[in-house]
Amino acid sequence: MCGIVGYIGENNCVPVLINGLKRLEYRGYDSAGIGILIDNHPLVIKNKGKVSELQSKIEKLKLSSPIGIGHTRWATHGEPNEINAHPHCNGDKSLFLIHNGIIENFETLKKGLQQLGYTFLSETDSEVLVHLIDSFLKRGNNLFKSVRMALTEVEGTYGIAVVYEGEPDKIVAARKGSPLVIGIGDNEHFIASDVSAIIAHTSQVVYLDDGELVEVYKDHFCAKTIADADIEKEVFEITTTLEEIDRGGYPHFMLKEIIEQPESVFNSMRGRILLEQGTAKLGGLELVADRLANSKRIIISACGTSWHAALVGEYMFEQFARIPTEVEYASEFRYRNPIVGSEDAIFFISQSGETADTLAALKEAKNRGALSLGICNVVGSTIARESQAGVYIHAGPEIGVASTKAFTSQLVVLALITLLIARKKTMSLVDGKNIALELEKIPEKIKQILKLNEHIENIAEEFKNATNFLYLGRGYNFPVALEGALKLKEISYIHAEGYPAAEMKHGPIALIDKNMPAIFIAPKDSTYDKIISNIQEVKARKGRIIAVASESDDTIDKLVDYTIKIPDTIRMLMPILSVIPLQLLAYHIAVKKGLNVDQPRNLAKSVTVE
Ligand code: F6R
Repeated sequence: MCGIVGYIGENNCVPVLINGLKRLEYRGYDSAGIGILIDNHPLVIKNKGKVSELQSKIEKLKLSSPIGIGHTRWATHGEPNEINAHPHCNGDKSLFLIHNGIIENFETLKKGLQQLGYTFLSETDSEVLVHLIDSFLKRGNNLFKSVRMALTEVEGTYGIAVVYEGEPDKIVAARKGSPLVIGIGDNEHFIASDVSAIIAHTSQVVYLDDGELVEVYKDHFCAKTIADADIEKEVFEITTTLEEIDRGGYPHFMLKEIIEQPESVFNSMRGRILLEQGTAKLGGLELVADRLANSKRIIISACGTSWHAALVGEYMFEQFARIPTEVEYASEFRYRNPIVGSEDAIFFISQSGETADTLAALKEAKNRGALSLGICNVVGSTIARESQAGVYIHAGPEIGVASTKAFTSQLVVLALITLLIARKKTMSLVDGKNIALELEKIPEKIKQILKLNEHIENIAEEFKNATNFLYLGRGYNFPVALEGALKLKEISYIHAEGYPAAEMKHGPIALIDKNMPAIFIAPKDSTYDKIISNIQEVKARKGRIIAVASESDDTIDKLVDYTIKIPDTIRMLMPILSVIPLQLLAYHIAVKKGLNVDQPRNLAKSVTVE
């Protein structure tokens, strides 16, 4: 949600900023801007729309500067336009700033600054920060102190970077609730909200923590807390490669990420399955595995697609580990004074590891003494670092806004955790081995499903003009119905709802007619006969039906309009397979409608605001 990139060094910052913004565009894409110093004089250029439009504007100017910051915006306060785009400047344009996050007390701060004579140009909360910092500069403080003092007055979240013509040898950056990383190069330093923006230049990074500020020079940096205490920061080596974050010849990141799933789920399980012992080895949980297995209750908290993965996890944990499990939206958990304590283990699932609600729920759980565990994709992300222990899903960078490969990898990791704790409890070696064996077969089975891409594209052609869809599944496939509906909504803007299939007759059946396609996830499992009855009910009302069914099922074809046949597996792993046709269907429908699947309207990849 919004992206930040900055550079200070001996080279020209302009291409670094533009390329960084392009990498970050998946985080917010309604406007963008850069601010640089040319011969120590600030120059700010902003644009509504895509980074490519900003790039054309800038390239004509043939600019060169050794210091600058850039921002790509996802609007929170004020519509997307040039004025509201970042950087924001102070009155005499000597100071400019970029900001991710939300300043909650901006109205109060704004009134105070207006009384001091400050005028505001934009509708953003962010502009308050630049004037507030200016007010401290005007009182004779240096830039670092002015930023630090300004931030003590701010309520809300921020990742900021500030440049001042009076101190042209540094960028000051700070973080609270919005990620920020410093990249270390050879006589150059980078700042970014996400390592993807700087990965082309360095693999040495330092993650800022909440309440930390940093003064970044070309050849060194100094970090302090907001209370002015010096801090030593650890340098990390990042392993993500440029190829991993490139589109690699695919028309969209979403398609690339769907197609990558045989490898991404393999990476999630690589080295973690102990076949002979019928269990899993998860280094990140080793120290807490016994406490986890003995916990009285498990809660899984997350948002969006990760919340759907959590629902599948609930089924797995209860079926095999026999530990009562609840799933809760992070946004609800954090505000409802939950009854949790040291006997509970709480998993927080987040692809980005930066989702504001999930992070806040994690902090709440930690404060209450629960064992707080992260399941994240982005290595070094805040949720991963704030958790007491956890597991990375290792799906690789997910750039498409609609989550696909992270979901299937989350399910793999949940299955591994199930194995780990269930084997410590009552699961037999034979059952453990069976699950482990089936897990190992999943990547090949995904490859088989991906061969149906063209068939699914044809179905998409048939249904692309429908205005409503119903997704129905039972048991483990109920969360898949929710996820299929979410994928379609997000990128095609078609209204879709997911339901447990049996719930249909308690209301949604009223919607069924010849214009309402229903998608059944109906593999041959213990609920198969029941779901066939639900299919009959839709058919009797002339609804059009697409079924995701088992390849061994040759009776279902007669009942439905289209079938997508997938390989069989054990029930707990079926969602990893059954979701893939739904990802492809949503993708093809959106492409056929001419929509931007990687950057759907109003969405952003990582939701770092409440
Ligand atoms: C859906 C999607 C979102 C995210 C949600 C949580 O395709 O991407 O619903 O799943 O915003 O994000 P993370 O997993 O990063 O916490």
